[in-house]
Amino acid sequence: MCETKLGAVPDGALEKVTITDFVDELVAALVTLRLYDRKHARSRSRIIELKRLHEQLVKAIPEGSLVLATTEGFVLYEDRPLLGASMGAKKLVDPLVARNSGGLEFRRELGDNDLEVLLELLGGPVEDKTHELANMRLRMNGCQGIGFLPPYQIGMHSARGQVRLSSGADSGLAEPGLLLPMQRRQRIVDSLQGASINAARGGIVDLQEIQSVAQLLCDSVRKDPGEVQNMVRYERYDAYTFGHSVRVCALALSFASHLTDDLSLLVRIGSAGLLHDIGKMRIASEVLHHRGRLSPEQRAEMERHTDFGSAILLAQKDIDEIAVTVSHGHHRNLDGSGYPADPLGTPQSMVTRLIKICDVYEALTAVRPYNGAMSPMKAFRLMLECPGAFDPGLLRKFMRTMGCYPVGSAVELSDRTHARVLQSTDDLVRPVVQLEHADSGEELDARDRRTIDLSAPVNRGLDVHRLLEIGRLQTELAAIGDSAPDSSPELSQAA
Ligand SMILES: [Fe+2]
Repeated sequence: MCETKLGAVPDGALEKVTITDFVDELVAALVTLRLYDRKHARSRSRIIELKRLHEQLVKAIPEGSLVLATTEGFVLYEDRPLLGASMGAKKLVDPLVARNSGGLEFRRELGDNDLEVLLELLGGPVEDKTHELANMRLRMNGCQGIGFLPPYQIGMHSARGQVRLSSGADSGLAEPGLLLPMQRRQRIVDSLQGASINAARGGIVDLQEIQSVAQLLCDSVRKDPGEVQNMVRYERYDAYTFGHSVRVCALALSFASHLTDDLSLLVRIGSAGLLHDIGKMRIASEVLHHRGRLSPEQRAEMERHTDFGSAILLAQKDIDEIAVTVSHGHHRNLDGSGYPADPLGTPQSMVTRLIKICDVYEALTAVRPYNGAMSPMKAFRLMLECPGAFDPGLLRKFMRTMGCYPVGSAVELSDRTHARVLQSTDDLVRPVVQLEHADSGEELDARDRRTIDLSAPVNRGLDVHRLLEIGRLQTELAAIGDSAPDSSPELSQAA
């Protein structure tokens, strides 16, 4: 994957800031400004972080200008596409395309309000149809340090003339584990951003859009579950797409597709996964984005999200009862404990049980800025140690489906070679893998990247020695805030 590291910061700072960090933060700021007023603390902290990343990056760029190009839906740096960053960048790319612009130039010195002016322009209605007019508007608003670029041409921004972008429909950018066309990825991410923003702003949820995204994810899961898991693991869009719900949806669809072939039911399950925490949109921002342990008062406030969620959904036209039930009941345990209290002891629906498992598993295994990821094995153990919390039969099936080494994870095998998990098997600890590095540590050529089914009797002599990394893209996480996982404390209390 193309990842431009600019770590050689002259003042000896240890931080490795990447262009991808900057693009992700730029998109996160765009979305945050749609969610909150520009004076809101959350918006302010995004802009401050964006300025900080810009300062770090330009120190390491000899020319002193940071130039991001866009073409064919991709964001590029020095003509090289930034795959991960492009996935969530529709909200950055579209306003540039609408102005017939092929990118943005950020000069070394930015004015105090340059980024704010740019963000407001990009997030607002398109009034200028050319990059020249857009630049005039930037200047009129006092922004001197940023400029819209003319339409992109290969090589125009490359210091070394490296041209990596082909002209094919998929731009020749597919690589193992990244097989979905970028446009499809962008549509999923963008739709989810839109649905979340709408819910946050007024409680009006575009249910049709939610269902169509669930349908899209459902089709993808059935074709290639590993691909979807990889896609939703790109967590730097967490801060603005509520990545936890996306991952819960993908997990639920992966799991449920092993339990039923009923497509319409799968779409309803996926939609319920996407909407399960919609009530959090009504929780005060300070509590929702609080890092670390919540005080008892904050926890009580957070626990209101299940009541809020069912109220939001019940107020919608044509809402699916499955989504209402899940949003209200996903923190209640199978034995009736948890919240909200239910004096009538209503039995938990099967979909609620399923989403509850995915919700807790995701919260435990996701990497957070303040918390490393727990291995799937440890998460399973912890969940098994909570009798009464989960449907035990369903939990065992979930463990079998997920395996201890999730698709996309990097593992070291017992012969010291490194491999990527392609598929889980009936044997929890013996997935199908593809070799990537020889025992010497050397990266293997494509022709030497053998696929090995570790569950096959012929391969019994080879084991997974240890998990190196959960998911292909999780190591790229930046310290971008996400709402605290609300399931883990509940789980530890139950334990
Ligand atoms: Fe929740």
